[in-house]
Amino acid sequence: NSPLSGKHLMITAGPTREAIDPVRYLSNHSSGKMGYALAQAALALGAKVTLVSGPVTLSAPRGCQLIKVSSAQQMQDAVMQHVQACDVFIGCAAVADFRVAEQAEQKLKKQQDEDEMILRLVKNPDILASVAALENPPFTLGFAAETQNVADYAKGKLARKRLNMIAANDVSDHKIGFNSEHNALTLFWNGGELALPVNDKLTLAHQLLGVVAQQLEK
Ligand code: C5P
Repeated sequence: NSPLSGKHLMITAGPTREAIDPVRYLSNHSSGKMGYALAQAALALGAKVTLVSGPVTLSAPRGCQLIKVSSAQQMQDAVMQHVQACDVFIGCAAVADFRVAEQAEQKLKKQQDEDEMILRLVKNPDILASVAALENPPFTLGFAAETQNVADYAKGKLARKRLNMIAANDVSDHKIGFNSEHNALTLFWNGGELALPVNDKLTLAHQLLGVVAQQLEK
């Protein structure tokens, strides 16, 4: 009997794109590799997997339900539409914190007499926190990518977003994290923590989901 058999996991992955006009956007360097590794590991552990993915160049593991989105708002809509049926929600996407306040309908043109332009940004919804705030939330796991005070910031997020678990990584270490094949994580939950040293992302995904499965049993 596989540790996650009968469980339905939803995983968000990749970056989001926030349109400025029909040809330009704001985004970030997330590759989606950690989220896709989690989807692959969850399938191998017997789970049903819904992968809500921003634009990435990876192909989805065979057997998962893939929902492709572009913006944070689209990701939020897709998550909220399907998450009620899930036992576990893992927010692995690097959601853009802000979107452009007013998307231009036509391509913005350079003004010959102006050397600067100002874009007004507004805050995007926090998808992970909205899932955790549902009346009957699934087991929620978030990621915290930090460059300093990793443990303190991660524990702060665990409490503030009311999560069951958080996986923290140090993105100032350029050998691991974003776009890398490798990562290292420290897991924090209420009453426990566990360091998962540098490894390839698929191995880490298996280790992480092993801990999630243990916590689900409790
Ligand atoms: O607050 P911060 O962006 O560092 O939190 C990171 C965690 O929250 C990640 O798990 C990320 O997927 C999730 N998140 C989200 N929606 C946002 C911002 C972050 O789901 N708008």
